[in-house]
Amino acid sequence: MKIGNAMALYFSATGNTEYAVKRFARNLGVYFGNVLSIEAKVEKIEHIVFSADTLIIAYPNFLCAIPKIMGDYIAKYARWFEGKNIITLVTYAKFSLDADLLVLRLLKKKRISFRECSGLSVQFPINVCDIELIKQLPDDETAGLREKADRRLDEAAKIILQGQNIHDGKEWQRPVAFLRQRMFYLNRIKYYYKKVKINENCVRCGLCISRCPMKNFEMRGKKVHQKGKCTQCYRCANLCPQNAITIWGHKVQWQYRGPEKFGGSENGRVFRNCRF
Ligand SMILES: Cc1cc2nc3c(=O)[nH]c(=O)nc-3n(C[C@H](O)[C@H](O)[C@H](O)COP(=O)(O)O)c2cc1C
Repeated sequence: MKIGNAMALYFSATGNTEYAVKRFARNLGVYFGNVLSIEAKVEKIEHIVFSADTLIIAYPNFLCAIPKIMGDYIAKYARWFEGKNIITLVTYAKFSLDADLLVLRLLKKKRISFRECSGLSVQFPINVCDIELIKQLPDDETAGLREKADRRLDEAAKIILQGQNIHDGKEWQRPVAFLRQRMFYLNRIKYYYKKVKINENCVRCGLCISRCPMKNFEMRGKKVHQKGKCTQCYRCANLCPQNAITIWGHKVQWQYRGPEKFGGSENGRVFRNCRF
């Protein structure tokens, strides 16, 4: 595809996707100011989108689905995507199957026609931190994963700059993804989650209130409460200095520090201002 003027729009809970999209976009020659999180002001994004020929849309794989916050955003602003080239970039921990095709399917469902498309999936460490069976990777494996991810992102940018498209996700993987994940978990991820738990270790530091992308937390009386509109991104559980927040599990096993631990110096926005 011919990139032309490009912009990137991403959602990233703990920084993997932000790291990936920034590296990828830089390799494609995208102006850094055109790489924006969906948490930025809509007017700012809209202004850039309209002059872009190519949109890079980046998000983490959540159980072979688009994070609800991202899916809703794309559905709401689907008209932005009309007539553009689309490149999807998915970060995942174990497998992503056809996750990079999900945005394209969503746009087709909204009857939005786009020009050419590419889809790319890149492996990163997992950020689900409250399930006993899911263990944090040892540092050497994390470093290996990072090198692999960097190589993949750099190669992919080269391929696209040569005018070719990438299709990591395949249509035939759709039934596989259904049988492996969507059949069991789609209902869990399709709606905003209502059961985020805040335990008695909470010291009301307010970090979750300020950093939740859904504004799901509020101070009521002398306690932090959740409002039942969690996108299940795990940013709060990974950030909480008291390990007081859990989503699916009941105990924080470890906290994923994102690309900081991963060695990414370009990132840090997610963790800046964080009082560990
Ligand atoms: C709710 C949830 C579900 C996830 N499901 C999967 C999955 O099905 N397969 C997978 O490989 N990774 C899965 N992951 C891991 C993330 O996709 C991965 O860690 C991603 O890089 C996180 O990106 P971020 O740091 O930009 O938020 C899941 C993470 C969360 C929070």
